[in-house]
Amino acid sequence: MARKKFSQAQNAPFVMTMKPGRYAWCSCGESRKQPFCDGNHEETGMFPVVVHIDHEQEVRWCGCKSSESAPWCDNTHLKFLEGGE
Ligand code: FES
Repeated sequence: MARKKFSQAQNAPFVMTMKPGRYAWCSCGESRKQPFCDGNHEETGMFPVVVHIDHEQEVRWCGCKSSESAPWCDNTHLKFLEGGE
């Protein structure tokens, strides 16, 4: 069984249509504004990943916080068993 590296926001990507702009993806899993940073990482020692999206597009933000291609989902979440740690 794969181990989760961080707190999960959810064990699935956040699939969203994004407008052009700058976004800060939550890497620690503690934000209440998933999948984006709300500053709650302060005590985790982690930082958001900032990306710039230059045209409107559908993206898959990683929700499990373990993607090797963060902030994008790379299907790592499929390795986690339901309820596993
Ligand atoms: S939600 Fe994290 S890899 Fe898919």
